[in-house]
Amino acid sequence: MLDCIVIGAGPGGLVCTKELLEQGLREVVCLEQARDVGGVFANTYDSLVLTSSATMSMFSDFWLGDGNQHLFWTKEEAVDYWKRYAKHFGVLDRIRFNSKVVAVVPQESEGWQVSLASGETLLSKRVALAIGNNTIPKYPAWKDLLTDVEYSHSKEYRNADRFAGKNVLVVGGGESGSDVALEASRVANKCWVSLRNTTGWVAPRKRGIYAADISTHRGVWGLPRDYGAALSEAIDRAELSQNDLVHDTADGETQRSPKFLVSCGSF
Ligand SMILES: Cc1cc2nc3c(=O)[nH]c(=O)nc-3n(C[C@H](O)[C@H](O)[C@H](O)COP(=O)(O)OP(=O)(O)OC[C@H]3O[C@@H](n4cnc5c(N)ncnc54)[C@H](O)[C@@H]3O)c2cc1C
Ligand SMILES: NC(=O)c1ccc[n+]([C@@H]2O[C@H](COP(=O)([O-])OP(=O)(O)OC[C@H]3O[C@@H](n4cnc5c(N)ncnc54)[C@H](OP(=O)(O)O)[C@@H]3O)[C@@H](O)[C@H]2O)c1
Repeated sequence: MLDCIVIGAGPGGLVCTKELLEQGLREVVCLEQARDVGGVFANTYDSLVLTSSATMSMFSDFWLGDGNQHLFWTKEEAVDYWKRYAKHFGVLDRIRFNSKVVAVVPQESEGWQVSLASGETLLSKRVALAIGNNTIPKYPAWKDLLTDVEYSHSKEYRNADRFAGKNVLVVGGGESGSDVALEASRVANKCWVSLRNTTGWVAPRKRGIYAADISTHRGVWGLPRDYGAALSEAIDRAELSQNDLVHDTADGETQRSPKFLVSCGSF
């Protein structure tokens, strides 16, 4: 019987496996349905650039060094980092890829029976779920009413090629919606964004040369708008006073409204 099975080799599963090994558990296996590490980052759109800076995306015990902290990784850079992390801490050897878990059943005496899609079963004293919260697409209830419109979910999105010359409606103004709308609008005939509530906060990636999330975080950007209105004004004033490029329009005038809406209120 194994000491622990970790399900999922995204960032969460890698950290979990590493910590279990460091706690002295010997028989630890990480089961991953995909062919590689990286979780959602390995399976998302081509142009993805993380919204968290390298400082916020790195682990304190695997720091890549000064000079890198204000970068925003591409998905390839992020996956490369997780891979190096996994290799460095001996986690990579513990991962079984192409191993989709289909059932986890508690055993009467002790532990859990874990069944794989291949039909194989494993027994383990403990199970850690690290299957992520962004792996299952959430469709609106009215999806099935869309009989004469082509539709897709951002989980399937890779690039804007299929939108070339078309009229595109992006539903939702979270970070996925914002990224997709920006790319689609460059090739579409027309592109709209539909928001059922308000826009979120417009949070710049950088303030000058500094990654903005080093000095703020989503605790600030996720505040309800009513409550956060005063704070928003103060942040806006502080940013404008720094003359950052993010506030400059083409003709050099400072603008207060964004070209694209970025909602950071996903928590
Ligand atoms: C497009 C996009 C961009 C994002 N950008 C950022 C960002 O910039 N910064 C940030 O902090 N967060 C970002 N996130 C949020 C991101 O999802 C989480 O930060 C991160 O993925 C959490 O890691 P995780 O290991 O918990 O989950 P995941 O990365 O989702 O990993 C879960 C893993 O479990 C595996 N799995 C699931 N079910 C099974 C099963 N039954 N059997 C075997 N394996 C299974 C999956 O294949 C996957 O590899 C982004 C999310 C998306 C969708
Ligand atoms: N570049 C990046 O790093 C990047 C890119 C994409 C995603 N992410 C991360 O991935 C996670 C998920 O982000 P996400 O943008 O995919 O999801 P999200 O933050 O949950 O945003 C979903 C959006 O869809 C809207 N919506 C949901 N159901 C709807 C419905 N039935 N009708 C109309 N609108 C509806 C929501 O509106 P309401 O606000 O009204 O609920 C919201 O605007 C977040 O952690 C995010 O940070 C990061």
